Amino acid sequence: MVAPIKNFLSVPKTMFGVGAISQLNELLDERRAGSGHIVFFVDHYFKDLEKYNIRVDSGDLFFQVDTSEEPKTVVIDEYTKKIKDSGDLPCAVVAFGGGSVLDVGKAVSIMLTNDGSSSDYQGWDLPKNKPVYKVGIPTVSGTGAEVSRTCVLMGPEKKQGINSNFSLYDQIVLDPNLLETVPTEQAFYTAMDCYIHSVESLCGCYLNDFSKAYAEKALDLTRKRFLGDGTHGDMMIASMFGGNSIVYSEVGVCHAMSYGLSYAFGIHHGEGNVIAFDYLDQYYPDYMEEFREMVKKHNITIRRGLCADLSEEMLEKMIDITLLMEKPLENALGTDWRNIFTRDVIKELYLRM
Ligand SMILES: [Fe+2]
Repeated sequence: MVAPIKNFLSVPKTMFGVGAISQLNELLDERRAGSGHIVFFVDHYFKDLEKYNIRVDSGDLFFQVDTSEEPKTVVIDEYTKKIKDSGDLPCAVVAFGGGSVLDVGKAVSIMLTNDGSSSDYQGWDLPKNKPVYKVGIPTVSGTGAEVSRTCVLMGPEKKQGINSNFSLYDQIVLDPNLLETVPTEQAFYTAMDCYIHSVESLCGCYLNDFSKAYAEKALDLTRKRFLGDGTHGDMMIASMFGGNSIVYSEVGVCHAMSYGLSYAFGIHHGEGNVIAFDYLDQYYPDYMEEFREMVKKHNITIRRGLCADLSEEMLEKMIDITLLMEKPLENALGTDWRNIFTRDVIKELYLRM
């Protein structure tokens, strides 16, 4: 049977350029149309929105998001309840921050119009009702969350995304100046998420001309930023392109392993990817030298020896989480992936990390 051709849906409106953030008030005023209120989710590093001349009106709701851990379904449910309890639905949800904050904005916008717990929607195409309009403003680049159709959440049972067209932002604002103050390590780990998206896309069997063009350009720009004279603007575009590439293909082995690391240790997605990628020479041999050159050039110390003392029970759970990533694993290893990427192979890899 021939697989159906995907119908690519992209973020309808993108504003890119130094100073773009100064046009946000105008955008939001159009949505407010006089009486509507807005819900802001803001990374705790950027709590003072006035510094960016972003207006928060008296009826608006403002949540500072703790990004020390990845977003949890219980936290999404709490935000949703608070917003619903406060009165009418907002006219817009604005997320201002890194990948975690962007994912919170997506998940809450969906949960405001879909009943139950956000954990009920972890999977593919489960929300049924149109979400609240949302604006994403990334302050660190690489996750591709600004353009992806997923928001990854840690649930009681699993780490998995709400993969849905409803996860896409309606508007994104990309202002390279916002990346100026990101700490080096965080910028690096997040950017490597983009690098790895591109590698996994290019090495996967789901690859097609559409994904390839985006992945190649994303790789070029990430390289330029971390091995050459690239700018924050380059990395912002790389992130978007890397994200677009995987929307139309898939990630691979590294992401499947990284999810287990995040589950066990609460490690952020980008760092989890970097830890895992360093052990995946067998799967991505053509990119290892360059990856390690970037790690070295930016004085990044990859955490090691994490899994050696884990309980058997936790290791088994991590393997379960890895094996939930069926599409990425099929993309990386082909339809026979279950016979190639066995529990023993995964365990052996984790024990080396
Ligand atoms: Fe990723």
